[in-house]
Amino acid sequence: MSTAPGPGLGVIAHLPRLRRDPLGSLLAYHREYGDIVRLGAGALTVHLLGHPSHAEHVLRLHHRNYDRQTRSAAAVRLVTGESLVTNDGDEWRRHRLLMQPLFNKDALSSLSSIVVDATNAMIDQWRPRRDVDLAVEMMKLTSTIACRAFFGTDVGDDLDRLMSVILEEAYARATSVFGWGRPPRDFERACADVRALVERILARGDSPLLSALRTLSPDELRNEMIALLLAGHETTANALAWTFALIEQWRTGNPASPNDHESLREDRQDCLSSAFTTAAVQEAMRLYPPVWIVERRAIEDDVIHGFDIPADSIVYISPYVLHRHRDFWPDPERFDPSRFVNGPRNPAYLPFGSGPHACLGVAFAMIEAPLVVQTVRERCIIVLGNTKIEPRAWITLRHRNGVPVQVIVNR
Ligand code: HEM
Repeated sequence: MSTAPGPGLGVIAHLPRLRRDPLGSLLAYHREYGDIVRLGAGALTVHLLGHPSHAEHVLRLHHRNYDRQTRSAAAVRLVTGESLVTNDGDEWRRHRLLMQPLFNKDALSSLSSIVVDATNAMIDQWRPRRDVDLAVEMMKLTSTIACRAFFGTDVGDDLDRLMSVILEEAYARATSVFGWGRPPRDFERACADVRALVERILARGDSPLLSALRTLSPDELRNEMIALLLAGHETTANALAWTFALIEQWRTGNPASPNDHESLREDRQDCLSSAFTTAAVQEAMRLYPPVWIVERRAIEDDVIHGFDIPADSIVYISPYVLHRHRDFWPDPERFDPSRFVNGPRNPAYLPFGSGPHACLGVAFAMIEAPLVVQTVRERCIIVLGNTKIEPRAWITLRHRNGVPVQVIVNR
């Protein structure tokens, strides 16, 4: 057993860069020190795990030794209270067992029509052509879809605005190196407003999901609904905006994404098939996984790949790093949907996490996202502007300058 390589206490010197460019820093540490990197020491020990077998160790094989007593879960807990996205143990298991069957493919039979209707209504508003920011449009769309699917009703624009205020503070807290004081007033007010809004919807909402969850106490139900909204709309919105941007860069032969994908782009029809759209969404989530980092705390001392993981220390698993691991992905920076057309599942692909806490909404997201892409691309031509589309590592992986495009609606 030994100590994993890394800059040790020298990490203090790296902190400004880590905060300014977390994605670049994570990749640089992986390149420099390898698949397991130790940052900090003592109470501040953090390990970055960059190999799929390490991710499986923590998330699946030894998940009982890794809990969510972490900064990121504490920040989310301020918003949702105890819920599926923050909890461990018996409470978590009880809720997960109750909710799991409601998110299986069979239970989501009405989702496709909700998605197609909402997407067509959005496209109708773009007629005949419109300059839009797809990052903003996708956020509105997935919020509408989530509310209709979860509550059987529309919620209005207030929710997006409130969620933005809340997530900004939650992210600041999750990434702060120093202790936190009391949350700012506007954050507390936004949390109270979201709670009140969701309670109002619960009072009048009607959906199969709500009926099945009425066995929960009113507080539990409200918390789980806020958690679902939080987990289920921003993630998919970002995956969608990235997918549109990457497909268009690739189709137009942007030098950043060479266009040698003849098998998939023989004709436009191929690029509209559901196999292509699903593969494009998967590939976009490989390059820009909406959940770019997963955090856990080691409960007891552990050993990963011969290196000590002390009790109470933090481990980070970054899908952004795993999805660029050169042993698993040839030419990892290249957008290439054909990676997902055939062949076995790549063990270094974890956009939805792994193990018992793996995403509850994977079937939901993988019905919704390809269907939105397909519906938009069947009816519209998307023309990218000159703005460089860059990631911004936030609670999810957003776009630094949005995704401004011109949409031409042709049907
Ligand atoms: C592209 C879209 C999505 C991505 C990339 C994504 C990703 C993830 C990831 C990586 C996790 C695991 C986090 C961890 O291990 O700590 C997770 C958990 C979760 N996701 Fe998603 N998600 C997406 C969409 C959704 C949707 C649509 C829903 C709801 C309908 C949802 C609900 C949840 C819930 C409730 C959890 C917590 C599960 C648990 O701990 O039992 N997600 N998601």
